Amino acid sequence: MRRIEEKKQRGFLRMGWGSVTNARFEIKPMDLDFSGYDTIVLCMPVWADKPACPARTFLRDARLDGKKVHLLISTGGGEIDKPVAVAAADLAKKNATVGVTARVIAGFGRKYASDGELEQAGREFAAKVKGAGS
Ligand SMILES: Cc1cc2nc3c(=O)[nH]c(=O)nc-3n(C[C@H](O)[C@H](O)[C@H](O)COP(=O)(O)O)c2cc1C
Repeated sequence: MRRIEEKKQRGFLRMGWGSVTNARFEIKPMDLDFSGYDTIVLCMPVWADKPACPARTFLRDARLDGKKVHLLISTGGGEIDKPVAVAAADLAKKNATVGVTARVIAGFGRKYASDGELEQAGREFAAKVKGAGS
């Protein structure tokens, strides 16, 4: 499991505005070659109805050509149709597609779900991905 980390910390307004304007937030260097992987799961939060900027940098830069990427999306309560569509459009540019998707309501400002509930959501999602066959 790898963690996508921003190079620079930003406040709420910059994060939200960055998402609205499709800004590229730099992420810390990581291995972005997924050619040897069959199953790829991206866990990401929603910012302003889109994948969070660091997740979008990943979607744009990772070598995911021809891959199916499963998305576990945390929100403050919002739906995930729009962020899934944005991720699908980013992936389509490299002939990659979105696989299984699920939403977990994690909280907005204040934590909504306990760590145990988040872990349970992760386990349920893993079972769903397994059931879908890579
Ligand atoms: C800048 C910003 C914008 C957000 N926009 C939305 C939104 O449009 N819809 C929503 O349901 N939650 C929104 N959220 C809440 C996040 O999705 C939520 O805090 C996140 O999923 C929690 O995961 P984390 O603790 O890993 O950040 C936003 C949060 C931030 C920081």
